[in-house]
Amino acid sequence: MVTTIVAGGQWGDEGKGKIVSYLSLKDNPAVVVRAGVGPNAGHTVHFRGKKYGLRQIPCGFVNEKCRLLIGPGTLVDPAILLREVEETGCWGRLGVDRNCAVIEPHHIEEDRTTGGKIGTTGTGCGPANVARVKREAKLASEIPELQQFLTDVPLELHQVAENGGDILVEGSQGFGLSLIHGTYPFVTSKDTTASTLAADVGLGPTEVDEVLLVFKAYPTRVGNGPFPTELSPEEAERMGIVEYGTVTGRKRRIGRFDFEMARRASMINGATQLAITCIDRLFHCPPVRRFEDLPPEAQKFVREVEERVGVPVTLISTGPDIWDVIDLRGERS
Ligand code: GTP
Ligand code: IMP
Ligand code: MG
Repeated sequence: MVTTIVAGGQWGDEGKGKIVSYLSLKDNPAVVVRAGVGPNAGHTVHFRGKKYGLRQIPCGFVNEKCRLLIGPGTLVDPAILLREVEETGCWGRLGVDRNCAVIEPHHIEEDRTTGGKIGTTGTGCGPANVARVKREAKLASEIPELQQFLTDVPLELHQVAENGGDILVEGSQGFGLSLIHGTYPFVTSKDTTASTLAADVGLGPTEVDEVLLVFKAYPTRVGNGPFPTELSPEEAERMGIVEYGTVTGRKRRIGRFDFEMARRASMINGATQLAITCIDRLFHCPPVRRFEDLPPEAQKFVREVEERVGVPVTLISTGPDIWDVIDLRGERS
């Protein structure tokens, strides 16, 4: 029985969706539970020739045997949730905690009119979390369209653990966007590290076995705020890297791997394993599945990350498809 938290080590969009979908199919967890802020996140999954940009439903939907849950700390926008349930066909296996706070149209309106300085996603998450702190938020239990999904997520997780099932916690955003540890005030409306992801779903610190921290081979950032290793758009383009946001469609800022930040993110998340994504885009290599098949510079980079961060790299993503992964867990963890 293993409980694993997947968290982001940079400014979000590290490819957590890809990693969670891979682990869901490969490891067959009993439950995949979504944590993090809410529908400000977009998790991309390429599955059976289709591209999904999931903002509410856990990426574990790719494995029909997985129960899918949304923890009470995560915000729910009922319209987005229902759309994604339809798109993924996960009706019978989704559970939403009755204590999830709900995003209302006026939160979105407020976010769009006041979020400019920070460059928020305009999805209403900040104002909805403010309403929660002010004890004014509506909860999922009060929303008629959500009744069919309501459950007690912490209780379900503890029952799964008692029965020996594996739990995969899908975090969102990334270390640099944490309200506590990130580049304040250019941050999201909550902490984004593993401790809070555990609290989001109702797991205590002693119940977590593995923290898998995900890094992109080149960090990206959308919205405003400091980015010490940022490249100029021309430099990024010369390297052949252009990315657009899943939720907002904004062009992502691109940077060089920041070892100092990675080390700090790993320390504060209590990382036990690291994943590196988009290695193919930095080193212009095909989506290989064996470490030996990576170009020597890419192998050297992975070893340097391990050495300087001080945590083993167990997964390397070499392409957007779910199975484009070098899985080193047998060898290294
Ligand atoms: P947030 O919770 O919003 O932070 O998102 P996320 O961490 O799930 O990442 P997101 O899906 O927004 O962005 C990652 C992008 O990289 C997506 O377009 C993925 O399809 C893509 N991607 C992930 N891994 C790889 C990879 O190894 N290679 C390539 N080429 N693309 C990848
Ligand atoms: P908010 O979370 O919409 O309030 O936005 C605050 C900051 O966090 C902005 O810079 C957003 O671009 C950023 N942000 C929030 N969620 C994500 C995410 O999932 N991926 C990348 N950036 C995000
Ligand atoms: Mg994203």
